[in-house]
Formats: sequence, structure tokens, C-alpha cells
Amino acid sequence: MTMNRLGTASSDAQSPRTALDALVAEEERIFLARQPRSGELYERARRVLAGGVTSNWQITRPQPVFIDHGHGSKIVDVDGNEYVDLHGGYGAGLAGHAHPAIVEAVTAQVRRGTHFAQPNEDAVVVAEELARRFGLPMWRFMNSGTEATMDAVHLMRAVTGRDLIIKIEGCYHGHHDSVQVSVAPSANEPIGTIDHPRSVPSSAGIPGAVTSLTLVATFNDLASVEQLLEGHQGQIAGMIVEPIMMNAGIIPPQPGYLESLKELLHRHDALLCFDEVKTGLPAGPSGATGIYDVVPDIVCLAKAIGGGLIVGSVGATEELMDHVAKGDYEMVGTFNGNPLSMAAARAMLEKVATDDAYDRLGRLRQRIDETLSARIARYGLPAHVVSVGAKGCVTFSTTPVRNYRDFLAIDGRYNHLHWLCQLNGGVFLPPWGKTEQWLLSVQHDDSDVDRFVANFERFAEISAGAISS
Ligand SMILES: Cc1ncc(COP(=O)(O)O)c(C=O)c1O
Repeated sequence: MTMNRLGTASSDAQSPRTALDALVAEEERIFLARQPRSGELYERARRVLAGGVTSNWQITRPQPVFIDHGHGSKIVDVDGNEYVDLHGGYGAGLAGHAHPAIVEAVTAQVRRGTHFAQPNEDAVVVAEELARRFGLPMWRFMNSGTEATMDAVHLMRAVTGRDLIIKIEGCYHGHHDSVQVSVAPSANEPIGTIDHPRSVPSSAGIPGAVTSLTLVATFNDLASVEQLLEGHQGQIAGMIVEPIMMNAGIIPPQPGYLESLKELLHRHDALLCFDEVKTGLPAGPSGATGIYDVVPDIVCLAKAIGGGLIVGSVGATEELMDHVAKGDYEMVGTFNGNPLSMAAARAMLEKVATDDAYDRLGRLRQRIDETLSARIARYGLPAHVVSVGAKGCVTFSTTPVRNYRDFLAIDGRYNHLHWLCQLNGGVFLPPWGKTEQWLLSVQHDDSDVDRFVANFERFAEISAGAISS
């Protein structure tokens, strides 16, 4: 199959046309009427850009929204519609748009040269600050989350001399071969049972031989990891996991899970890598690592640490990074540690992701949680709010979602309708419905939350009957 992160009813559970479909159709009509210029650009783009976009995740229904510019907590599309930006560029936008500290740092660096392929002082400062926050002493920089997790997987294999890795069904770690496995499989694929999930490629072009090197376990289920370690004694290099799953709504780890995972893997001389590309700074000042007080062997970061610029990062123990320093594992890249990215990351860490900012974000998060939960109760929606730090989502289930199989059972149309209602009411949530979360930035305020809640109320009003029917 090809990856379908929308998780629509058509892939997960074939449903007849219902009142819900009619509501979706009406909101899509409004959506298109508001965006004639985006429609024109889309037509033009389809002739020169595959799918009319620059990444498959920009393909949205009924059409992609072409953005003109951003300022503070807002973005403005090419038709002049202004949105409260809760998309946050798929989780990179913790600083908001054109944050003065980022603008100043990047502008100063642009004037002094944009690329040397040599280390600079900012890289040292950023590494020192990440070491302080994440409790791992040694760091390297690259250009995306994909590069970070690719280097992490290579490093685990290089250090242990083992080929197999474990990943969690439903976790996304970027688009390199080793992790393009069981990302968002549909129930129609040969995915095995929840106790024995099977590895399936998540895209065409991933060789079966590579897929077979990635074993799949169930989130929040230690036994599913243990059976893989027992069944492949001495062959597993390590495990990569989002410590809080954030590509299937938000699924938090159960108490003690991450700690036990580390202990279990180490008992088998295997390594633990946290993919904090999404959780990184948005979950808290030192990510999920800080929240759960479990320091893994490797942490991957990207997205928000760049303050809107392009950066990925890997942190690890001295012992592991010694293999990099000695050149056993060649961790390389022309643009690694690029001065523009390093200037932005330094400003992000020193001036944007501050304690004060986290206090403000915490207050906004609490307001959203409380007001949305009250609307859910008032309209009797089968849903609940899950949030952590600056991230949050509405999960359309009355019971907590513990793993990908629970998530698979949710009808993606609810989220799509919510997304459309928010867009039509001037709030840009991330596309791809149920898989994604909103991201608050340090520049959002109460009036942004008010607009978001008002749109949610309209969504609840029009859909309550259809959703519970
Ligand atoms: C948890 C996680 N890891 C890795 C990646 C890949 O990051 P990038 O898109 O920067 O390559 C993503 C992207 O969404 C992600 O969510």
C-alpha cells in the first residue's frame, strides 16, 4: 500500500454515505469558495510539481492552501485569508513566525556568510545547551528529522555490529528505508495481530530485504519487545521509539514503560533511541526525556529546535559518539552545522524556548483543554482532549488510545470535518486529520485560543448528531 496518514474511513472501515459525509462535502464547498487563488496556483503547480506540492503531506483535500506569509501567531494565504496558525509547519513552529530573536540572529548571519562547511561557535553553544537540557553529553547536527533518525539507526548498528532494529507500529521516524516500515498500515494489510505485529513496508520502493531488518512491536507493550529480543538473541542493535507517540494523534507512554524499555534493551545489550523530533522542545524544555526522567542512549531532534530553520540533531553518550569521532561510523553532510541554522537554533534555545515561554504555553494549554473538554461534554461528542506542552489533539474515542491498533479503529472523517471547520473559521490546524496535533507557539495568546474554541463549538454544534448517530 501507499502510506495514507489521513486514515480516512475509506481505508480503515468502509462506511456508507452518511450525514457526516454531507457535512464534510458542505465544508469542502465553503473551503474552495474561500480560496480561488490557491485553486489557480494548484492547477499551475500540478503541471510542474508532482501532485502540485513539494511534499506528499502538503496534498490535502479538497486542495492545498498556498501560503503567502506569516507573522506572529498567524499565517496568511494567497487569497488574503488570515489564520491562527496551529499547524506550526508540522511541529516546527514553536517560535511562531518572524520572531524578533530569530529574525535578528538569522539576518546578522546572512550578512556574514551562509555556508562554510566548518564548525563555528554557535554550534558549540547549541550543543552545550542541548547537553544541559537532554542529559546526553555529545551532539552532532544535520538537516532534518529523517537524517537524524537515519544517523541514529546507523550508529546503533555500527556500535553493536548487529543488523536488526525494533520500531513501534504506527511511529513515523522519517522517510529512510529502515524506518519506512509499519508507519500507518491499514487493517487490510498483513499486519499480524496486536501481540505479534508484522513488518510491512510503508511506501513503494522500500526493498523487502530492508523491511525484514526492522522488527515491529506494539507501543506500551513490553512483552512485544521482549519476545523480539528473546527470539533474535544477539541480533538486535537497538530500538527507536517516539517516547510520546505523535504520529497517531498523541499517545502517551504508560507509567514506567520507557524506564522498563531501557532496562529490557540493555539487558540484551541493545540500545534505546528516543525520536524526539516532534516532542523535542514542544513537549517541554527538555522534551519527553525530561518529562519522564529517562535518558536514552541516543536522542534525535529536529523541527522546533531550528526556530523555523532547517536543522536536525543527534545526541548520544560519549561511548557511542566516540565511534563517530574515530570515524568508524561516518556521520557527515555538506550542510551539517550550517551557520544560518546554528544561529537560529542558538536564538531558539537562549531567547525563545525560555522558562517564561513555557509558563505561558502551559496556561494556554490548560485553557484549551478545559474549554474543549467542556464543549465535548455539552454536545455529547465521543471524544477527549490529549495534550502535552504546546501540543494537543482531539481524539475521537471515549476511551484512551494506548497503541496503533486502538488508533486504527477511529474514523478519520471526524478529524477531517474538524479540520475543515477550523480552516473555514480562520484557524489552520495541521492537515492529515487524526494523525496530527496542533502546536501552540510562544507568540499565541488568548484571542487565538478564543477563535479556536469558537470554531470547535461550531463543529460540535453541526456534527453532534452525525457523530453520535
Ligand atoms: C517523530 C518524527 N521523526 C522524524 C520525522 C522526520 O522529520 P523530517 O520531516 O524533518 O525529515 C518526523 C516528521 O514528521 C517525525 O514526526
